[in-house]
Amino acid sequence: MGVDQKQAVLRLPAEQLYARELEALGAADRDSRPAGWRLSPKAVLTFLTGGKAGGVAITPKYIGNKRLVEMAIATLLTDRALMLIGEPGTAKSWLSENLTAAIHGDSSKVIQGTAGTSEEHIRYSWNYAMLLAQGPSDQAIIKSPIYRAMETGGLARFEEISRCASEVQDALISILSEKTISIPELGRELSAVRGFSIIATANTRDRGVNEMSAALKRRFNMIVLPSPSNVETEVEIVRKRVGEIAASYELKAAPPEEEFVRQVVTIFRELRSGATLDGKEKVKAPSGVISTAEAISLLTGSMALAASFGDGEIREEDLAAGLQGAIVKDEEKDRIAWKEYLENVMKKRGSAWRNLYQACSEMNA
Ligand SMILES: Nc1ncnc2c1ncn2[C@@H]1O[C@H](COP(=O)(O)OP(=O)(O)O)[C@@H](O)[C@H]1O
Ligand SMILES: [Mg+2]
Repeated sequence: MGVDQKQAVLRLPAEQLYARELEALGAADRDSRPAGWRLSPKAVLTFLTGGKAGGVAITPKYIGNKRLVEMAIATLLTDRALMLIGEPGTAKSWLSENLTAAIHGDSSKVIQGTAGTSEEHIRYSWNYAMLLAQGPSDQAIIKSPIYRAMETGGLARFEEISRCASEVQDALISILSEKTISIPELGRELSAVRGFSIIATANTRDRGVNEMSAALKRRFNMIVLPSPSNVETEVEIVRKRVGEIAASYELKAAPPEEEFVRQVVTIFRELRSGATLDGKEKVKAPSGVISTAEAISLLTGSMALAASFGDGEIREEDLAAGLQGAIVKDEEKDRIAWKEYLENVMKKRGSAWRNLYQACSEMNA
């Protein structure tokens, strides 16, 4: 892809965003590569958790427990598929995309699970005009992402699998146990090439999810991605991702001061856990999900505000607007919970928090 085209794309897939790193890892990789893999398992781990390859610095993609990433990679070496589960915003999709980019070089074979997902989205469907004109043929087949991954020995991603109806989920069972898709209309079956696997994600806190059958769960290794274990880790994740996202949007604003990031992360952690960080005071949790991902988009949103309508420096008013939007989702209840937090916790925290407290109070009046 040329440079011009690259600039026109709103969001680059991981394999393009980190093309230089992947290339350097490939060149420096001395270990053997499993069938269908572009890199050795060790090089995939370096891509995800950071390090060096030749002279090139590899930025960490997943920040947290390295062992979880090792287990995810190891799963894909076996005939079991991988399922990443956890609360919203714990980097399930992000890890899935980057794993796929490193191992397979194409993270775009994705099925997005919804209530409307049908078996055809998982297997194949037909170009009906062609089907009517010529009858079933290879040309008339519309291949699903999973079909294409099986054909090439690659990875398919299945996002939010638990939002699909149970019968639809169960269409995966035969694919994962037999590693084939039968095409009765053509009297043949498609057998997966070595290297094929699936990385699925599922939220544990989601409305409208369907229970997964035991038979399906057995086909997957489940790995739970936790919320960041402490403030420092979460601040690091947020700072890093805000920097990357702001750069890709070319926002003309300074990245948020570390103090602002720390304040946002502190507020989010306290509201999420229902208590102040020191554990001394209870706080009411708002109705919505206030995840790390939310903190990231709040701060990139603040940068956009500061860049477009301010002097390029994030101010307390920008943060207050973002906090209000992230926390007050259900008008009545959340507004009260946020007010209580402002009065009982934030107001008492002294001078470093005073301006933010004031801006938030005005916004929530
Ligand atoms: N532990 C983490 N390491 C790196 N990035 C993280 C981490 N946790 C959250 N993020 C960031 O949060 C954002 C949202 O993550 P996403 O994968 O969409 O969440 P999920 O699919 O679990 O709901 C991404 O930009 C991701 O980089
Ligand atoms: Mg996701």
